[in-house]
Amino acid sequence: MEARTDEIADGIYRLSIFVPEIGPPAGFTFNQFLILGDEPLLFHTGLRRMFPQVREALARITPPERLRWITFGHYEADECGAMNEWLAVAPQAEAAHGHTGCLVSLNDMADRTPRILGDGETIDLGGGRRVRWLDTPHIPHGWDAGVLLEEASGTLLCGDLFTQLGDGPALTGGDVVGPAIAAEDMFLSSSLHPSMGPTIRRLAGLAPRTLGLMHGPSFAGDGAAALHALADDYDRRVRAALG
Ligand SMILES: [Fe+2]
Ligand SMILES: [Fe+2]
Repeated sequence: MEARTDEIADGIYRLSIFVPEIGPPAGFTFNQFLILGDEPLLFHTGLRRMFPQVREALARITPPERLRWITFGHYEADECGAMNEWLAVAPQAEAAHGHTGCLVSLNDMADRTPRILGDGETIDLGGGRRVRWLDTPHIPHGWDAGVLLEEASGTLLCGDLFTQLGDGPALTGGDVVGPAIAAEDMFLSSSLHPSMGPTIRRLAGLAPRTLGLMHGPSFAGDGAAALHALADDYDRRVRAALG
């Protein structure tokens, strides 16, 4: 189980591990994203048991001890299971997460005090790169959920949004909405509620040019259109659930 690495936007790398046993026969990917800069940032730590593979993949791009920021979309094992392993190998690193996640989980679970990010707060990574944290509570799941926008490249690291099965290309210009609808029908992993549509449409307002999916290929193209289509599908699901 080796992680493959691909540069999906300028200075942004996708470290991908494919697990054929999940959702067979298609299988399932777990993707971590590294943003280079004076202060390199990791979005998703990978599962604790995947740490050796993800660390080896990251080391092909930059020394792991240079990592400065450990970030993720919400507190679950695939998003942050190896958080403390990364904090141990990178002495300058801090975990950074939204207000809710720090108060509910990280203040206790992280081996060093995390940096709390308010909704819309940015971290300057140097080298012309800046990331912006956006709260998306309960979307697609997790009270503490949020996404991260890398502003220079217009790359939205959107966590479990658009989750799909299979081991596609690292980067696609094809449809990412249809496969996400199919996976939601199968996993039912989203917390359906009325604010889904407005929250996802707010992300569309960022007009991202690249979407970094945690489970699926990265998407290059009209990110706003994809987000609007996903929001419409969730609205449909919420209306159906309410009868
Ligand atoms: Fe999740
Ligand atoms: Fe996930």
